[in-house]
Amino acid sequence: MVKIATIVGARPQFIKTAVVSRAIQTSKKKIEEILIHTGQHYDYLMDRVFFEELDLPQPDYHLGVGSGSHGKQTGIMLERIEAVLQKEKPGVVLVYGDTNSTLAGALAAAKLNIPIAHVEAGLRSYNRRMPEEINRLLTDHLSTFLFCPTAQAVQNLLKEGIRLGRGKVVKNVGDVMYDSILYYSKIAEIKSTILKDLGLLTPNSELPARSAGGRTPNYYLATLHRAENTDDPKRLKSILKALNEIGKKFPVILPLHPRTRKMISIHRLSKETQNVKIIEPVSYFNMLALEKYARAILTDSGGVQKEAYWFRVPCLTLRDETEWVETVKSGWNRLVGAETKRIIQGVHEAMREILPMKAPNAFGNGKASGKIVDFLIKIR
Ligand code: UD1
Ligand code: UDP
Repeated sequence: MVKIATIVGARPQFIKTAVVSRAIQTSKKKIEEILIHTGQHYDYLMDRVFFEELDLPQPDYHLGVGSGSHGKQTGIMLERIEAVLQKEKPGVVLVYGDTNSTLAGALAAAKLNIPIAHVEAGLRSYNRRMPEEINRLLTDHLSTFLFCPTAQAVQNLLKEGIRLGRGKVVKNVGDVMYDSILYYSKIAEIKSTILKDLGLLTPNSELPARSAGGRTPNYYLATLHRAENTDDPKRLKSILKALNEIGKKFPVILPLHPRTRKMISIHRLSKETQNVKIIEPVSYFNMLALEKYARAILTDSGGVQKEAYWFRVPCLTLRDETEWVETVKSGWNRLVGAETKRIIQGVHEAMREILPMKAPNAFGNGKASGKIVDFLIKIR
């Protein structure tokens, strides 16, 4: 039986590991999994709420690293992960995505000659100023098992000389977040009361009314947390101005990442958000409910871009490039950057356009986690 050490630390990783851990648990005990939480995210609404809602096992190790500069945070993680790996001696280390927890886990494993399995391998923005791009590049080059979410990701790896063979497994298994949305969206719809709590239900209806084009008429949803937006006061102000303008006609709901809240306060930008409904970060079920019935979603999140696509809700990506090029090719996602005018214009265009609801799904068939576990079981 293979022993796997899974390393997580940030919000999207709790969501991704939930479906894979469940597939591991149903693998008839062919895998022993230990869960290591770096502590990168720690507020209740960025961390524990996901363990509770998604019924995740408590971490076997909580490293309590917390926030810090990139070098410091990654360095402390590296030291503490190494100590756990030396003690537990897993056969494989499993990492997700592109955060500092991902890189620290991969580096600690590589230095101990433990094979690494990377879920969400092969993504590239081709912008090396993004901390995530550095984390992805290094993790992919260190990994033995590269589980790609799309065919494009496999191609990206090929361009860097990473291919199946010579001891590496490169496989397009599909996107575990798609598995997750298929599994949880119905449960979320039953359990979440957020639409009601925020007064977003139309009168006489249980759920917001949908127009013939499949769109819901009464609110926008936004998220904002990328360093390139939050740490540049000009970009941050310009995006907030756009949300504020859009918010004059329909409510803009903004579940706010703590990093962005801090920056809005430091740069005294709260007057730019008078028409924006800022709320605390929400649980996954609440997020799925908010996404599904939004008129459109404005975001710089990777995961939220894809969820918008799977729900067939128009998405405006507040960045200059995206890793999730398939969503843009389909027409459901637009790159609008951070300029106020362009964002507002993008929303108008998106609301006018009628797109086919049956766009092809480039993210697999919702069975990515099962495929990953099937591979891991075979490891000796
Ligand atoms: C991290 C990831 C990013 C991912 C995001 C998911 C890196 C380099 N970035 O960004 O790829 O999209 O998580 O949400 O790993 N903070 C709190 N409470 C928390 C967590 C963070 O207050 O529970 C604040 C702290 O001030 C901290 C800041 O947010 O310094 C940034 O947190 P950090 O984990 O470093 O980066 P994220 O922006 O969350
Ligand atoms: N999410 C959530 N609550 C929020 C914001 C996001 O549950 O308040 C979920 C979202 O639905 C998606 C994931 O978190 O599944 C995306 O994480 P995030 O945007 O933090 O990171 P990224 O995907 O950009 O790395």
